[in-house]
Amino acid sequence: MPVISFASPKGGVGKSTSALVLASGLSQAGASVTVIDGDPNRTLETWASETSDPGFECRTLPSDNAIIDEIEEAAASSQFVIVDLEGTANLAMSRAISRTDLVIIPLQASPVDARQASRAIKLVVDEGRALRREIPYRMLFTRVNPAIATRDEKEIRSQFRGAGIPTFETALNDRAGFRAMFTHYRSLWSLGDDQATGLDKARINATAFVQEVVTEIRRQNAVVEQTA
Ligand SMILES: Nc1ncnc2c1ncn2[C@@H]1O[C@H](COP(=O)(O)OP(=O)(O)O)[C@@H](O)[C@H]1O
Ligand SMILES: [Mg+2]
Repeated sequence: MPVISFASPKGGVGKSTSALVLASGLSQAGASVTVIDGDPNRTLETWASETSDPGFECRTLPSDNAIIDEIEEAAASSQFVIVDLEGTANLAMSRAISRTDLVIIPLQASPVDARQASRAIKLVVDEGRALRREIPYRMLFTRVNPAIATRDEKEIRSQFRGAGIPTFETALNDRAGFRAMFTHYRSLWSLGDDQATGLDKARINATAFVQEVVTEIRRQNAVVEQTA
């Protein structure tokens, strides 16, 4: 079943947070999910070992030679596989990307992040060339001010549009709930109202993101069926 990887060479853009939002959002909706943690900080593996409401299975990205087997095994047994990648150009990254159906590239709405994100796009496109297969990817704005779209965000969105770079409509807002998942080792849906403010809004935001990912995967499958 679909393999969705989060990748970007820049740390701190929200890869692990967005991956956890997607994994717990899908499992909250009843899907079976396996997360493969390729972040050297082991952010998601630590979360999964500490939480009392995992909702999904979490494994560590194995050594280079075993990566493809691990992803394929997870894909055979789960409805969704989510891989949190470090995102620098290395063999592990290539192997994981070669088995990915959708790469999500998170970025914050700043010109510096946009430049770093184009390095991530280049990695994905180069991987696709080497494999002679187009690897679908989509940009995801993270930590966006929920009150207003900043001038930077509008500007970068319009540059992406102009360059034909696909971008999620939904941006993940900067919200306490997304940070509290890691403070309290709980999913957004099991945090208590005393553990973060604005949880309702964070959940609505997360659900919109999860739905957009599912819509994108369905759209891809429809294209594959049409061309088969
Ligand atoms: N949508 C968000 N709202 C609030 N804080 C966020 C959000 N996304 C990420 N963060 C915070 O930003 C920091 C970096 O996020 P993280 O997901 O670890 O990035 P990466 O995996 O790309 O290094 C963390 O402190 C995290 O809590
Ligand atoms: Mg991370």
